Amino acid sequence: MKHLSVSLVCLIVLSALVFPHAAEARVPQHGMTVQTHQHDGSSQGRYSKEREEMIERTQPSGKIMDAMGIKPGMVVAEIGAGGGRFAVRLAERVGDAGKVYANDIDPDALEFMKKRCREEKIQNMIVVEGGETDPRLPLAALDVVALVHTLHMVKKPVPLLKNIIATLKPGGVLAVIDADPEKFARMNRDAEGLPSNEQVMRLLNDAGFELVSEHTFLPLHFFWILRPREEADQAANPRE
Ligand SMILES: C[S@@+](CC[C@H](N)C(=O)[O-])C[C@H]1O[C@@H](n2cnc3c(N)ncnc32)[C@H](O)[C@@H]1O
Repeated sequence: MKHLSVSLVCLIVLSALVFPHAAEARVPQHGMTVQTHQHDGSSQGRYSKEREEMIERTQPSGKIMDAMGIKPGMVVAEIGAGGGRFAVRLAERVGDAGKVYANDIDPDALEFMKKRCREEKIQNMIVVEGGETDPRLPLAALDVVALVHTLHMVKKPVPLLKNIIATLKPGGVLAVIDADPEKFARMNRDAEGLPSNEQVMRLLNDAGFELVSEHTFLPLHFFWILRPREEADQAANPRE
């Protein structure tokens, strides 16, 4: 019996390591999917270093930033930055000459990121309280806007995506990383309620984006780089 309990505990610990998002439940809402986190209820539990390290194994931030073309001096934003896991890596990469806008709509996430900036002395990260469809970011100012594991949680994705176009500099891009239900299923993870990649691409097209490139190295997520189609860019940023 004792042997059985020890095996059970080992199995649970092993699953948590192999499947870092296993404690996340997905509930369909407004055509997209909402993700809830089962944690100890505190921002600390949700945004712990251990959790960040586990996510880093399936979403290596250095390789992701290389693929996004993030360089020192750039002005970039992450919409739905949560506890700042990826945004702080962006801040390191763009350096003192660059800037990162870390947006979220969750007051706990915003508070956590502000505290993190103070404690980790991050001076080039600006925490922004977004609206549901208005990211409240500077207009025509951003080289890259990243949506990392966030789009499936957004209740009104098309209006938000349309508003992102106006924040991009000419030549700026949107990088979207999100759960790929086929990859989830292949890894025996619950993909119920996740939108298909085709559904997500349709939303992006409806909002005025077109695909520039696709990166396939993430084991559980799709990773697309997109730019505004010319007519959508013109509508959002009328330039003479
Ligand atoms: C799963 S977390 C991802 C956090 C972070 N991007 C990461 O990968 O570690 C998704 C975040 O998106 C935020 N979110 C949901 N809808 C949003 C919206 N309309 N605008 C900004 N943030 C949003 C949630 O509050 C949550 O913090």
